[in-house]
Amino acid sequence: MRKIQLLTVCAWFALTGVYAQNNEKSLKEAYSDYFMIGVAVNQRNISDADQSSLVKKEFSSMTAENDMKPVSVHPEEGKWTWEKADRIADFCRQNGIKLRGHTLMWHSQMCDWMFYDKNHNLVKKEVLFERMREHIHTVINRYKDVVYCWDVFNECIADGGRRPNSEGKDQPLRESTFYKICGNDEFIRKAFQFAREADPKALLFYNDYNECDPVKRDRIYEMVKEMKDAGVPIDGIGMQGHYNIYGPSEEDIEAAVSKYAEIVDHIHVTELDIRVNQEMGGQLRFSRNEGVQVTNDQKLLQEAQYAAVFRVMRRHADKVDCVTFWNLSDRDSWLGANNYPLPFDKDYKPKNVYRVIRDFIPSTDNPDIKEDFKPSATCQPRQEYPQVNSQGYVRFRITAPSARYVIASAGHGGGMGGTVLKKQKDGSWMGTTLLPEDEGFHYYTLSIDGVQVIDPGTNSYYGGGRWMSGVEVPAHDDAFYAERTDIEHGNVQKILFPSKVNGDQLRVAYVYTPAGYDKKQKQRYPVLYLQHGWGENETTWPVQGKANIIMDNLIADGKALPFIVVMTYGMTNDIVFGRPFDRGKVAEDFQKVLVDELVPYIDSHFRTMADKKNRAMAGLSMGGMETHAITLARPEVFGHYGILSGGIYTPEEIKDKNQVDYIFISCGSKEWPDRVLKAVSDLKSAGFNAESYVSEGTAHEFLTWRRSLYVMAQKLFK
Ligand code: G3I
Repeated sequence: MRKIQLLTVCAWFALTGVYAQNNEKSLKEAYSDYFMIGVAVNQRNISDADQSSLVKKEFSSMTAENDMKPVSVHPEEGKWTWEKADRIADFCRQNGIKLRGHTLMWHSQMCDWMFYDKNHNLVKKEVLFERMREHIHTVINRYKDVVYCWDVFNECIADGGRRPNSEGKDQPLRESTFYKICGNDEFIRKAFQFAREADPKALLFYNDYNECDPVKRDRIYEMVKEMKDAGVPIDGIGMQGHYNIYGPSEEDIEAAVSKYAEIVDHIHVTELDIRVNQEMGGQLRFSRNEGVQVTNDQKLLQEAQYAAVFRVMRRHADKVDCVTFWNLSDRDSWLGANNYPLPFDKDYKPKNVYRVIRDFIPSTDNPDIKEDFKPSATCQPRQEYPQVNSQGYVRFRITAPSARYVIASAGHGGGMGGTVLKKQKDGSWMGTTLLPEDEGFHYYTLSIDGVQVIDPGTNSYYGGGRWMSGVEVPAHDDAFYAERTDIEHGNVQKILFPSKVNGDQLRVAYVYTPAGYDKKQKQRYPVLYLQHGWGENETTWPVQGKANIIMDNLIADGKALPFIVVMTYGMTNDIVFGRPFDRGKVAEDFQKVLVDELVPYIDSHFRTMADKKNRAMAGLSMGGMETHAITLARPEVFGHYGILSGGIYTPEEIKDKNQVDYIFISCGSKEWPDRVLKAVSDLKSAGFNAESYVSEGTAHEFLTWRRSLYVMAQKLFK
């Protein structure tokens, strides 16, 4: 739901107290048909009551972040320190959670004594292999009952570009102490051989980071393929997944998983976290983002990146059987809470990204998007984008070669707050909404590296307290607002009327007069005062709302009486959401402008039927709130009331049944239809002439309000 509409909806919910309960299924339940969901834990996570219950609720697999590593369990030759590792293993046994063993061999947090003799000289490889064998067998046998897979070797492949050896062949291995002793990859083969000896059933993984970087990906692929072809028992590849909000791209992740799936039957994402800066990987040198406030754009980029990772993994659920987050919450993260890397925040509360990951929509994994995109009706002349296809998908394209990211604030499928565009080779950025958009008009802006701008491809529309871009998704029933050339059209004129509210000033209104108004000099007309929502203004109904076109078509088809429509600024934009605002005061000031200044001005400058029976007030969203407040406060002024996605009337609120001839209440089917239907049935049972309308398949958006005007206008003044 767009930001402004979200603000308005929240306001309304806040105002009218209705809230949808989100289902409380857990991550492991949401993914039970795909793969296990795991988490790396420290001692606090399994001892603290709240944290341990979160672990038990959300996760079906666990990894010891540090406590099963060589230096933690085998700090000295012949000395074993199992306490912390045992506690984690016992927690798994007691709670039926599977345990990933991390890690048997690694160049870091390794028991360095293994490499050296008493005189601190590097030992011979045979000595090293014997010590490795004893370590691996001892650790595996201790946890054979609870560990279902082991990261046998961690991060043996070097980072960076090609490293030709003496024969010019790429030497892919990290020059660790293992490598220095062996001079080749035998130490890796031995480790897997020893692990298989120790536990013929456990799955044995090679685990590494930057595993989607094409150079490193191919090195990992080459090494594992060559070893497997040589009979080395490698069952799976661990993709650590230490990513950031800018990368790797979904395409690179897809390419890596597809490539690894060629040579192994098991792929695990072993250490997933997505930090909000441009660094990635498992290295310990990284910036902690101290004191940096995470922006909404960064949160959205993170949501899109997590959504992309899980989309790829769901597509490969035949090979991917576990995705593990590296730490329980931002508070536990090795990256520090300021890198904001995980679905649970520093207070162990689920972020929106948690819902994006949990409440995924399977159809978005392999969307079948028809490539019949056409420029939107909102495009400026000679502009090709944004485009809309026959299914309602919206595609954006802008040129911003030096941008770091581009987000379109439209396209809210999958619970995300927008569509993240991807950089194309030609320096342009393109992106298609995750899901088809609802039919009708949608506001949006572009955020380019955090700067909110209007899409240069579209006309501008006033919403959200500023001029924005818009995209029009054709509606199956859009004939009622089609610009017909076979009928007479009315006029829309901009008027300036004097006002003393909040200082002496001229205020603006747009006045629609039906076809023939100028010719039929004697005829007088009823008047509808039609209000916009929060963040909008007097241009909203004539432009986004197509109010005059809808009226022209209705009058031409004899479905509505000809009447004047007045659309003025409702002073809603001074409200800053999140800050307490005096609901009464908003309507109060506007009430004076509307009832004490504009109505008299219209009645004295247009041929109106200047009485209550021929005067109506209606509004969308916050304009509906103003209608509710003003019609109840000034029952002598309007005889017809209309609230479009802006609350309801209750019989008790309307002192005298005869004060109103007609009440219209509407909303979208994706809003609160039951409330609207009940309100109108209560009004009818109380003897009011009330009507409800629910716009099928729409939310708090313009097609709801265009259709509502179309229905309401046919009943007004009859
Ligand atoms: O245990 C000592 C403690 O006694 C001492 O007081 C404290 C003070 O520095 O250090 C503690 O050791 C720290 C250890 O974590 C346990 O908390 C080490 O300094 C610290 O470097 C170590 O960091 C771990 C890091 O691996 C070591 O490389 C991170 O927590 C852990 O998240 C990280 O995990 C690795 C994966 O195992 C492999 N892939 C990359 C990933 C991130 O680097």
